[in-house]
Amino acid sequence: MTETNLPKHVAIIMDGNGRWAKKNALSVMLGHRKGVETLREIIRYSSNISIKVLSLYAFSTENWSRPKAEVNALMKLIVEYFTSEIDELDQNHVKIRILGDVDGLPPSAAEACRNAVNRTEHNKGLQLNIALNYGARDEILRGVNSLMMERCSGSKPFKEIVWEDFSNQLYTKGQPDVDLLIRTSGEQRLSNFLLCQCAYAEMVFPEVLWPEFTVDEYRKALQQYAGRERRFGGRTS
Ligand code: FPP
Repeated sequence: MTETNLPKHVAIIMDGNGRWAKKNALSVMLGHRKGVETLREIIRYSSNISIKVLSLYAFSTENWSRPKAEVNALMKLIVEYFTSEIDELDQNHVKIRILGDVDGLPPSAAEACRNAVNRTEHNKGLQLNIALNYGARDEILRGVNSLMMERCSGSKPFKEIVWEDFSNQLYTKGQPDVDLLIRTSGEQRLSNFLLCQCAYAEMVFPEVLWPEFTVDEYRKALQQYAGRERRFGGRTS
């Protein structure tokens, strides 16, 4: 499969599971379950066309405020996902990284994440970032505090902080910035997702809800991206 002018890093805000469930008179959890089916297809396709990095927003630092039953069920779904999918992901050389505070997850979810990361750590295929208990402001604060501690403790020379120092503190350390950000369901917001990494991201907002986001829709978003002129603040003529 070949696509032209592919983004290196695609980030997706998988929005609309709840609305899809409501539209189909189903429980919100069945919406999330259907969302996992979409996620599986999008990961497979990204891997097949050799996207380098795919970042998926699965659970934000703000999502803890949802009803307890939904939060608990989402955590269970994450454990189930890693248990059932890890063989296929590993066989396809997918390398998993968690963006976010894994220690703040319930122990079973944290363990499932760590196992998935460890098992795939030497893989060289698609870099799959799953954002869990993630918030960009939290990520920024952690970076700032860590740099401050390094400098104040004397473990690093007390000198001006440059962008490279800071970007090395981000969960996406060593990875390219986001080229294409997709948010489904017609909402047009970043919602605290990868604020630093999206500085020059092209954005596409398909109207469809996440459980209805097919590979065809994904290809349309990739084609839109391929047609964009990126100037990064400069001039092309
Ligand atoms: C947004 O839809 C979706 C989420 C907050 C959760 C996304 C999670 C999954 C797709 C499944 C779990 C992930 C993994 C990695 C197994 P919403 O519920 O905010 O939808 P709404 O805006 O229509 O209510």
